[in-house]
Amino acid sequence: MAAARFNELTLNSVVAETADAVILSFDIPAELRDEYAFTPGQYLTLRDTIDGQDVRRSYSICSPLGSDTLSVGVKRIDGGVFSSHAMALNAGKSLQVMTPQGRFLAPIGGEHDYLLLAAGSGITPMVSIARSVLENEPNSTVTLCYANRSTESVMFRTAFDDLKDQYLTRFMLTHVMDQEIQDIELFNGRLDGEKLDTMATRGLITPKAYDAIYICGPQPMIEGASVALESMGVDKDKIKFELFTPNGGTPIASANASQVDPNADALKISVTVDGSTRSFPLRPGEKTVEAAAKAGVEFPYSCDNGMCATCRCKVVRGDVEMVQNFSLEPWEMEAGFVLACQVQPKSDDVLLDFDAL
Ligand code: FES
Repeated sequence: MAAARFNELTLNSVVAETADAVILSFDIPAELRDEYAFTPGQYLTLRDTIDGQDVRRSYSICSPLGSDTLSVGVKRIDGGVFSSHAMALNAGKSLQVMTPQGRFLAPIGGEHDYLLLAAGSGITPMVSIARSVLENEPNSTVTLCYANRSTESVMFRTAFDDLKDQYLTRFMLTHVMDQEIQDIELFNGRLDGEKLDTMATRGLITPKAYDAIYICGPQPMIEGASVALESMGVDKDKIKFELFTPNGGTPIASANASQVDPNADALKISVTVDGSTRSFPLRPGEKTVEAAAKAGVEFPYSCDNGMCATCRCKVVRGDVEMVQNFSLEPWEMEAGFVLACQVQPKSDDVLLDFDAL
Protein backbone atom coordinates (compact mmCIF):
# COMPACT_ATOMS: atom_id res chain seq x y z
CA MET A 1 0.00 0.00 0.00
CA ALA A 2 1.37 3.41 -0.98
CA ALA A 3 2.30 5.84 1.77
CA ALA A 4 -0.78 7.76 2.84
CA ARG A 5 -0.54 11.53 2.98
CA PHE A 6 -2.90 14.48 2.95
CA ASN A 7 -2.83 17.29 0.40
CA GLU A 8 -5.11 20.29 0.16
CA LEU A 9 -7.42 19.88 -2.84
CA THR A 10 -10.12 22.20 -4.12
CA LEU A 11 -13.67 21.14 -4.86
CA ASN A 12 -14.59 21.92 -8.44
CA SER A 13 -18.17 20.78 -8.04
CA VAL A 14 -20.69 19.59 -5.47
CA VAL A 15 -23.64 17.91 -7.16
CA ALA A 16 -26.77 16.60 -5.46
CA GLU A 17 -27.16 12.93 -6.43
CA THR A 18 -30.30 12.20 -4.37
CA ALA A 19 -32.11 14.11 -1.64
CA ASP A 20 -29.51 12.92 0.86
CA ALA A 21 -26.39 12.28 -1.19
CA VAL A 22 -23.88 14.48 -2.98
CA ILE A 23 -20.97 13.90 -5.32
CA LEU A 24 -17.85 15.85 -4.36
CA SER A 25 -15.37 16.33 -7.20
CA PHE A 26 -11.82 17.54 -6.71
CA ASP A 27 -9.35 19.10 -9.10
CA ILE A 28 -6.05 17.24 -9.05
CA PRO A 29 -3.11 19.54 -9.79
CA ALA A 30 -0.72 18.19 -12.42
CA GLU A 31 2.09 17.78 -9.89
CA LEU A 32 -0.12 15.50 -7.73
CA ARG A 33 -1.55 13.32 -10.53
CA ASP A 34 0.77 10.40 -9.80
CA GLU A 35 0.01 10.50 -6.07
CA TYR A 36 -3.74 10.39 -6.76
CA ALA A 37 -3.62 7.64 -9.38
CA PHE A 38 -6.01 4.97 -8.13
CA THR A 39 -7.32 1.48 -8.71
CA PRO A 40 -11.12 1.25 -9.01
CA GLY A 41 -12.55 0.30 -5.62
CA GLN A 42 -10.26 2.55 -3.57
CA TYR A 43 -11.39 5.43 -1.36
CA LEU A 44 -10.33 8.92 -0.33
CA THR A 45 -10.18 10.11 3.25
CA LEU A 46 -11.45 13.68 3.59
CA ARG A 47 -10.42 15.83 6.53
CA ASP A 48 -11.80 19.16 7.72
CA THR A 49 -12.27 21.16 10.90
CA ILE A 50 -15.91 21.00 11.98
CA ASP A 51 -17.00 22.94 15.06
CA GLY A 52 -13.38 23.14 16.12
CA GLN A 53 -12.82 19.39 15.81
CA ASP A 54 -10.46 17.68 13.38
CA VAL A 55 -12.78 15.23 11.60
CA ARG A 56 -11.88 12.71 8.89
CA ARG A 57 -14.03 10.24 7.00
CA SER A 58 -13.44 7.88 4.09
CA TYR A 59 -15.55 7.81 0.94
CA SER A 60 -15.17 5.56 -2.08
CA ILE A 61 -14.05 7.00 -5.38
CA CYS A 62 -16.83 6.91 -7.97
CA SER A 63 -14.81 8.26 -10.92
CA PRO A 64 -13.75 5.92 -13.69
CA LEU A 65 -10.11 5.45 -14.62
CA GLY A 66 -8.81 8.28 -16.75
CA SER A 67 -11.12 10.92 -15.31
CA ASP A 68 -9.72 14.47 -15.03
CA THR A 69 -11.24 14.91 -11.59
CA LEU A 70 -11.56 12.63 -8.58
CA SER A 71 -15.08 12.25 -7.25
CA VAL A 72 -16.51 10.60 -4.16
CA GLY A 73 -20.11 9.91 -3.24
CA VAL A 74 -21.26 11.01 0.22
CA LYS A 75 -24.58 9.88 1.64
CA ARG A 76 -25.89 11.67 4.71
CA ILE A 77 -26.31 9.43 7.71
CA ASP A 78 -28.29 10.34 10.81
CA GLY A 79 -25.98 12.11 13.23
CA GLY A 80 -23.12 11.90 10.74
CA VAL A 81 -20.85 14.84 11.45
CA PHE A 82 -18.91 14.78 8.20
CA SER A 83 -21.71 13.64 5.90
CA SER A 84 -23.94 16.49 7.15
CA HIS A 85 -21.03 18.88 6.68
CA ALA A 86 -20.53 17.59 3.13
CA MET A 87 -24.12 18.44 2.17
CA ALA A 88 -23.36 22.11 2.78
CA LEU A 89 -20.02 22.27 0.93
CA ASN A 90 -19.65 24.37 -2.21
CA ALA A 91 -17.31 24.43 -5.19
CA GLY A 92 -14.16 26.39 -4.41
CA LYS A 93 -13.86 25.05 -0.88
CA SER A 94 -10.56 23.33 -0.08
CA LEU A 95 -10.31 20.16 1.99
CA GLN A 96 -7.47 17.95 3.15
CA VAL A 97 -7.65 14.82 1.01
CA MET A 98 -5.58 11.71 1.65
CA THR A 99 -4.04 9.88 -1.30
CA PRO A 100 -6.17 6.90 -2.47
CA GLN A 101 -6.17 3.94 -0.09
CA GLY A 102 -7.93 0.64 0.31
CA ARG A 103 -7.75 -3.02 -0.56
CA PHE A 104 -11.04 -3.39 -2.35
CA LEU A 105 -9.26 -3.40 -5.67
CA ALA A 106 -10.44 -4.07 -9.19
CA PRO A 107 -7.32 -3.95 -11.35
CA ILE A 108 -8.41 -3.24 -14.90
CA GLY A 109 -7.16 -5.17 -17.91
CA GLY A 110 -7.93 -8.43 -19.69
CA GLU A 111 -11.25 -10.15 -20.24
CA HIS A 112 -13.50 -11.00 -17.31
CA ASP A 113 -17.05 -11.54 -16.18
CA TYR A 114 -17.76 -9.57 -13.01
CA LEU A 115 -20.61 -9.75 -10.51
CA LEU A 116 -21.10 -6.61 -8.39
CA LEU A 117 -23.40 -6.69 -5.34
CA ALA A 118 -24.13 -3.39 -3.63
CA ALA A 119 -26.51 -2.04 -1.02
CA GLY A 120 -27.23 1.66 -0.50
CA SER A 121 -24.14 3.85 -0.57
CA GLY A 122 -22.12 0.68 -1.08
CA ILE A 123 -22.72 1.42 -4.74
CA THR A 124 -20.08 4.16 -4.80
CA PRO A 125 -17.00 2.02 -5.56
CA MET A 126 -19.10 -0.08 -7.94
CA VAL A 127 -19.71 2.90 -10.23
CA SER A 128 -15.99 3.30 -10.61
CA ILE A 129 -15.46 -0.42 -11.15
CA ALA A 130 -18.34 -0.83 -13.64
CA ARG A 131 -17.42 2.20 -15.74
CA SER A 132 -13.71 1.41 -15.70
CA VAL A 133 -14.31 -2.20 -16.77
CA LEU A 134 -16.81 -1.36 -19.49
CA GLU A 135 -14.67 1.45 -20.91
CA ASN A 136 -11.32 -0.37 -20.72
CA GLU A 137 -12.05 -4.09 -21.06
CA PRO A 138 -13.96 -4.36 -24.36
CA ASN A 139 -14.71 -8.07 -24.00
CA SER A 140 -15.69 -8.09 -20.32
CA THR A 141 -19.17 -8.16 -18.82
CA VAL A 142 -20.54 -6.60 -15.63
CA THR A 143 -23.62 -7.85 -13.79
CA LEU A 144 -24.76 -5.48 -11.03
CA CYS A 145 -27.36 -6.29 -8.36
CA TYR A 146 -28.15 -3.10 -6.47
CA ALA A 147 -30.30 -2.97 -3.33
CA ASN A 148 -32.09 0.13 -2.04
CA ARG A 149 -35.08 1.09 0.01
CA SER A 150 -36.86 2.81 -2.89
CA THR A 151 -36.27 4.50 -6.24
CA GLU A 152 -35.68 7.87 -4.56
CA SER A 153 -32.69 6.52 -2.66
CA VAL A 154 -30.97 5.05 -5.73
CA MET A 155 -27.62 6.77 -6.23
CA PHE A 156 -26.18 7.01 -9.76
CA ARG A 157 -29.47 6.03 -11.39
CA THR A 158 -28.79 8.17 -14.46
CA ALA A 159 -25.20 6.97 -14.75
CA PHE A 160 -26.33 3.35 -14.74
CA ASP A 161 -29.13 4.01 -17.23
CA ASP A 162 -26.51 5.52 -19.53
CA LEU A 163 -24.27 2.49 -19.10
CA LYS A 164 -27.17 0.18 -19.95
CA ASP A 165 -27.82 2.15 -23.14
CA GLN A 166 -24.18 2.25 -24.09
CA TYR A 167 -23.26 -1.35 -23.25
CA LEU A 168 -26.45 -3.23 -24.05
CA THR A 169 -24.90 -6.69 -24.15
CA ARG A 170 -22.14 -6.25 -21.57
CA PHE A 171 -23.88 -4.54 -18.64
CA MET A 172 -26.72 -6.21 -16.76
CA LEU A 173 -28.46 -4.35 -13.93
CA THR A 174 -31.00 -5.61 -11.41
CA HIS A 175 -32.58 -3.33 -8.80
CA VAL A 176 -33.80 -4.86 -5.56
CA MET A 177 -36.06 -2.69 -3.33
CA ASP A 178 -37.26 -3.44 0.16
CA GLN A 179 -39.68 -0.53 0.66
CA GLU A 180 -41.15 -0.20 -2.81
CA ILE A 181 -43.11 -2.88 -4.59
CA GLN A 182 -41.78 -3.78 -8.03
CA ASP A 183 -43.75 -5.75 -10.63
CA ILE A 184 -41.48 -8.77 -10.44
CA GLU A 185 -41.75 -10.29 -6.98
CA LEU A 186 -38.16 -11.54 -7.05
CA PHE A 187 -36.88 -7.98 -7.03
CA ASN A 188 -38.68 -7.05 -3.82
CA GLY A 189 -37.06 -7.45 -0.40
CA ARG A 190 -33.42 -7.61 0.63
CA LEU A 191 -30.37 -8.64 -1.33
CA ASP A 192 -29.51 -11.54 0.96
CA GLY A 193 -28.30 -15.09 0.52
CA GLU A 194 -31.78 -16.42 -0.18
CA LYS A 195 -32.35 -13.80 -2.86
CA LEU A 196 -29.06 -14.65 -4.55
CA ASP A 197 -29.91 -18.32 -4.42
CA THR A 198 -33.24 -17.69 -6.14
CA MET A 199 -31.63 -15.41 -8.71
CA ALA A 200 -29.09 -18.12 -9.48
CA THR A 201 -31.81 -20.78 -9.75
CA ARG A 202 -33.65 -18.61 -12.25
CA GLY A 203 -30.52 -17.93 -14.26
CA LEU A 204 -30.30 -14.20 -13.51
CA ILE A 205 -26.84 -14.69 -12.11
CA THR A 206 -24.36 -17.51 -12.70
CA PRO A 207 -22.16 -17.40 -9.58
CA LYS A 208 -19.60 -20.05 -10.54
CA ALA A 209 -19.02 -18.45 -13.94
CA TYR A 210 -17.75 -15.08 -12.66
CA ASP A 211 -14.06 -14.33 -12.57
CA ALA A 212 -14.49 -11.91 -9.66
CA ILE A 213 -17.34 -10.93 -7.34
CA TYR A 214 -17.28 -7.59 -5.50
CA ILE A 215 -19.62 -6.93 -2.57
CA CYS A 216 -20.07 -3.61 -0.78
CA GLY A 217 -22.64 -2.79 1.88
CA PRO A 218 -23.43 -3.44 5.54
CA GLN A 219 -21.85 -6.40 7.29
CA PRO A 220 -24.97 -8.67 7.41
CA MET A 221 -25.44 -8.28 3.66
CA ILE A 222 -21.79 -9.07 2.95
CA GLU A 223 -21.76 -12.10 5.24
CA GLY A 224 -25.07 -13.45 3.91
CA ALA A 225 -24.00 -13.02 0.31
CA SER A 226 -20.56 -14.54 0.86
CA VAL A 227 -21.93 -17.62 2.61
CA ALA A 228 -24.55 -18.12 -0.09
CA LEU A 229 -22.06 -17.72 -2.92
CA GLU A 230 -19.61 -20.14 -1.36
CA SER A 231 -22.39 -22.67 -0.85
CA MET A 232 -23.13 -22.32 -4.57
CA GLY A 233 -19.56 -23.39 -5.31
CA VAL A 234 -17.85 -20.00 -5.71
CA ASP A 235 -14.16 -20.05 -4.85
CA LYS A 236 -13.61 -17.89 -1.75
CA ASP A 237 -10.65 -16.17 -3.42
CA LYS A 238 -12.96 -14.74 -6.06
CA ILE A 239 -15.09 -12.87 -3.49
CA LYS A 240 -13.88 -9.41 -2.47
CA PHE A 241 -15.76 -7.20 -0.09
CA GLU A 242 -15.70 -3.71 1.39
CA LEU A 243 -17.11 -3.35 4.88
CA PHE A 244 -18.72 -0.02 5.71
CA THR A 245 -20.43 -0.73 9.00
CA PRO A 246 -20.15 -3.56 11.50
CA ASN A 247 -22.90 -6.03 12.28
CA GLY A 248 -26.13 -4.25 13.16
CA GLY A 249 -24.94 -0.92 11.84
CA THR A 250 -23.51 0.20 15.18
CA PRO A 251 -20.43 2.36 14.67
CA ILE A 252 -17.48 0.19 15.60
CA ALA A 253 -16.03 3.14 17.48
CA SER A 254 -18.68 2.73 20.13
CA ALA A 255 -17.81 -0.93 20.56
CA ASN A 256 -14.20 0.09 20.80
CA ALA A 257 -14.55 2.99 23.21
CA SER A 258 -11.60 3.70 25.44
CA GLN A 259 -11.65 2.30 28.96
CA VAL A 260 -8.71 4.22 30.32
CA ASP A 261 -7.38 3.38 33.73
CA PRO A 262 -6.26 6.77 35.10
CA ASN A 263 -4.00 5.12 37.67
CA ALA A 264 -2.14 2.88 35.26
CA ASP A 265 1.35 3.84 34.12
CA ALA A 266 1.57 5.12 30.58
CA LEU A 267 3.67 3.06 28.19
CA LYS A 268 5.92 4.52 25.51
CA ILE A 269 4.84 4.13 21.89
CA SER A 270 7.10 5.29 19.06
CA VAL A 271 6.08 5.60 15.42
CA THR A 272 8.33 5.87 12.38
CA VAL A 273 6.70 7.72 9.50
CA ASP A 274 8.66 8.78 6.41
CA GLY A 275 11.91 7.99 8.18
CA SER A 276 11.20 10.16 11.21
CA THR A 277 10.50 8.62 14.63
CA ARG A 278 8.44 10.30 17.34
CA SER A 279 7.08 9.00 20.65
CA PHE A 280 4.01 9.48 22.82
CA PRO A 281 2.69 8.03 26.08
CA LEU A 282 -0.30 5.68 26.00
CA ARG A 283 -2.27 4.55 29.03
CA PRO A 284 -3.76 1.04 28.93
CA GLY A 285 -7.20 1.29 27.33
CA GLU A 286 -6.47 4.61 25.66
CA LYS A 287 -6.84 4.83 21.89
CA THR A 288 -3.60 5.36 20.00
CA VAL A 289 -5.11 7.97 17.68
CA GLU A 290 -6.23 10.07 20.64
CA ALA A 291 -3.01 9.63 22.62
CA ALA A 292 -0.86 10.52 19.60
CA ALA A 293 -2.97 13.61 18.82
CA LYS A 294 -2.62 14.82 22.44
CA ALA A 295 1.15 14.63 22.07
CA GLY A 296 1.14 16.28 18.65
CA VAL A 297 2.31 13.09 16.93
CA GLU A 298 0.83 12.25 13.51
CA PHE A 299 0.52 8.89 11.83
CA PRO A 300 -1.69 7.86 8.90
CA TYR A 301 -5.17 6.74 9.84
CA SER A 302 -8.67 7.03 8.53
CA CYS A 303 -11.53 4.95 9.99
CA ASP A 304 -10.01 4.52 13.49
CA ASN A 305 -12.05 1.35 13.64
CA GLY A 306 -9.89 -1.46 12.29
CA MET A 307 -11.60 -1.54 8.92
CA CYS A 308 -9.54 0.35 6.35
CA ALA A 309 -5.87 -0.59 7.00
CA THR A 310 -4.70 2.99 6.38
CA CYS A 311 -2.84 2.70 9.71
CA ARG A 312 -1.13 -0.61 8.80
CA CYS A 313 2.39 -0.70 10.23
CA LYS A 314 4.95 -3.22 11.46
CA VAL A 315 5.86 -3.91 15.06
CA VAL A 316 9.62 -3.48 15.15
CA ARG A 317 10.03 -3.54 18.93
CA GLY A 318 7.84 -4.53 21.85
CA ASP A 319 4.71 -6.59 22.20
CA VAL A 320 1.17 -5.50 21.27
CA GLU A 321 -2.31 -6.84 20.71
CA MET A 322 -5.15 -5.45 18.61
CA VAL A 323 -8.61 -4.65 19.93
CA GLN A 324 -10.24 -5.63 16.63
CA ASN A 325 -9.20 -6.26 13.05
CA PHE A 326 -11.45 -6.29 10.01
CA SER A 327 -8.80 -5.76 7.36
CA LEU A 328 -5.45 -7.47 7.93
CA GLU A 329 -4.92 -10.93 6.48
CA PRO A 330 -3.52 -13.73 8.68
CA TRP A 331 -0.21 -13.70 6.79
CA GLU A 332 0.23 -10.00 7.52
CA MET A 333 -0.25 -10.51 11.23
CA GLU A 334 2.18 -13.41 11.16
CA ALA A 335 4.67 -11.08 9.47
CA GLY A 336 4.29 -8.59 12.34
CA PHE A 337 1.88 -6.10 10.80
CA VAL A 338 -0.79 -4.48 12.96
CA LEU A 339 -3.37 -1.74 12.73
CA ALA A 340 -1.97 1.14 14.75
CA CYS A 341 -5.43 2.48 15.57
CA GLN A 342 -6.25 -0.81 17.31
CA VAL A 343 -2.97 -1.34 19.13
CA GLN A 344 -2.83 -1.93 22.85
CA PRO A 345 0.74 -2.41 24.14
CA LYS A 346 1.58 -5.48 26.20
CA SER A 347 5.05 -4.14 26.92
CA ASP A 348 6.75 -0.77 27.28
CA ASP A 349 8.74 0.92 24.52
CA VAL A 350 6.87 -0.25 21.44
CA LEU A 351 8.10 0.87 18.01
CA LEU A 352 5.70 0.83 15.06
CA ASP A 353 7.15 1.31 11.58
CA PHE A 354 4.80 2.85 9.01
CA ASP A 355 7.45 2.72 6.31
CA ALA A 356 7.67 -1.10 6.35
CA LEU A 357 6.26 -2.78 3.26
S1 FES B 1 -7.42 3.76 10.62
FE1 FES B 1 -8.63 2.30 9.56
S2 FES B 1 -7.87 0.44 10.34
FE2 FES B 1 -6.83 1.91 11.50
